Amino acid sequence: MTHPAFSPSNVAVVTGGASGIGLAAARRLAGLGMRVAIADLGGDRLGAAETLLKEHASPENILAVATDVSSTPDLQRLQEIVEARFGGVDVLMNNAGIQPGSSIFNPDNWDRIIAVNLFGIIRGSQVFGLPMIERQKPGLIINTGSKQGITTPPGDPAYNVSKSGVKTFTEALQHTLRNIKDCQVTAHLFIPGFVYTPLTAGDRTEKPAGAWTPEQTVDFMLERVSAGDFYILCPDNDVDRQLDERRILWSANDIIRNRPPLSRWHPDYAQEFTDFLNPRD
Ligand SMILES: NC(=O)c1ccc[n+]([C@@H]2O[C@H](COP(=O)([O-])OP(=O)(O)OC[C@H]3O[C@@H](n4cnc5c(N)ncnc54)[C@H](O)[C@@H]3O)[C@@H](O)[C@H]2O)c1
Repeated sequence: MTHPAFSPSNVAVVTGGASGIGLAAARRLAGLGMRVAIADLGGDRLGAAETLLKEHASPENILAVATDVSSTPDLQRLQEIVEARFGGVDVLMNNAGIQPGSSIFNPDNWDRIIAVNLFGIIRGSQVFGLPMIERQKPGLIINTGSKQGITTPPGDPAYNVSKSGVKTFTEALQHTLRNIKDCQVTAHLFIPGFVYTPLTAGDRTEKPAGAWTPEQTVDFMLERVSAGDFYILCPDNDVDRQLDERRILWSANDIIRNRPPLSRWHPDYAQEFTDFLNPRD
């Protein structure tokens, strides 16, 4: 059973919809007969995505709106344009994200990463959320987080901070939604694994064996949202659910066992972590 929000003629908005996971989602939702608005930074990428989507769906069902999700006026304008063209929104995918790299004592990139990855999702949920609730129809707000916001590996602290914020915000959003009388909108935290997209490609020209395609990831998301999951924890070809569960549990145990933070990457805990991943019965 597919979630009723994914019905033909219903309306989806996908931020970061001109590339990678967002574009794959837009294509999949348009393929279901939905009317789809992609919101992304203006320019060639957005134009090319619009052309591609129109080739694979009814062109009148596709809308492309140049939007910077770090700008609240841009998000408000997006909401108004979609409402005027398609009517109310059934599915909001707050998905736009960047990963330009960061380090603790270098202030570069921090503001932009937080503005796009975290505030883009907070403001997107705020701008679209109330009108979605007021429609009194089943609706979905799907926010793209990351495993890096849960186990927070060393190497890109600003990205991790932004994605931990997405997790916290989306949990609070769903708690709020479920306490609003007769609310039919639910929020979901979409946690992709390693997905081969321009964000992760680097110098690669071919998908590494360990990565999933954006299409696989979107199919998994649709299946798990339809099953009612809040945490949509995607595997990839290297990391299965069981491994993710052990890593998440280890991370939570840093607090419970009073270990150093990020002990998974602390040499004194290397053997203990390896043993934890492979428990003997
Ligand atoms: N690829 C992965 O392995 C992976 C893993 C975990 C989470 N994610 C998350 O998935 C989401 C999609 O990433 P992707 O891998 O498809 O990357 P991508 O680079 O292919 O797509 C991201 C899109 O967001 C757009 N974007 C960037 N800044 C924007 C802004 N300010 N306003 C509007 N659009 C903006 C980009 O132009 C791009 O089209 C991101 O939030 C990313 O953090 C990706």
